[in-house]
Amino acid sequence: MNLLIMGPPGAGKGTQAEGMVKELDITHISTGDMFRAAIASGSEMGKKAKEYMDKGALVPDEVVIGMVKERLQHDDCKGGFLLDGFPRTVEQAAALDETLKSLSMKLNAVVNVDVPLDKLMARLTGRRVCRGCGASYHVIFNAPAKDGVCNSCSGELYQRDDDNEQSVGTRLKAYMEKTQPLIDYYKAQGVFRPINGDQDINKVLEEIMLAVK
Ligand code: AP5
Ligand code: MG
Ligand code: ZN
Repeated sequence: MNLLIMGPPGAGKGTQAEGMVKELDITHISTGDMFRAAIASGSEMGKKAKEYMDKGALVPDEVVIGMVKERLQHDDCKGGFLLDGFPRTVEQAAALDETLKSLSMKLNAVVNVDVPLDKLMARLTGRRVCRGCGASYHVIFNAPAKDGVCNSCSGELYQRDDDNEQSVGTRLKAYMEKTQPLIDYYKAQGVFRPINGDQDINKVLEEIMLAVK
């Protein structure tokens, strides 16, 4: 099954992706995680991406599109994948359609996690991420068993550089201007699945699994 998960920053894309790829045994492709890995490796691409990411701005389309095109050709995508955080612009969505066509693949469903925008700031400023496995926690809404330590891999939890009020403001604006138009784009393709993301994390996953099966 080839899926896409979208929604505003902090909607719970990464959190739900963790559960979805376990249940469906498919490959998780998060462009944000790929950029953070590039930054950690010290690569030129990572350095360039960091300038945009820290401010909360989108990385230019040509960089992202090339990276995803290459990633989709790896063997682990043949059994199904879940794209998280891509596409984020209509140009990226058109490039994805073209790439999938050339690989004889298609999207089975687009999961849209909906959360009222006024709830996102608290979710993001309280988020903590595992350095080891990338799992997302929240100091109040989804606290780890032991402070600062990941439940599944015992990795160290850290706060993302773009999880501050100023960057979150810019990310929300970028979402509304550039990414929200994709809702109509995927509705027109008949694959759009709206999900209420403003409920308990496990309830959201249940709703998603029902919608994609
Ligand atoms: P990316 O890493 O994709 O960030 P984002 O879209 O801003 O989304 P987040 O990862 O912040 O949120 P999420 O929806 O995954 O939420 P999570 O599950 O962690 O991108 C980062 C940057 O990279 C971009 O700003 C851009 O610069 C660049 N980039 C990436 N892709 C790009 C592209 N395609 N084009 C151009 N640039 C690109 O949850 C958030 C918090 O809420 C956590 O603390 C979690 O525990 C909590 N939570 C989750 N679910 C619930 C719930 N149901 N109830 C209560 N709390 C919850
Ligand atoms: Mg994420
Ligand atoms: Zn971990």
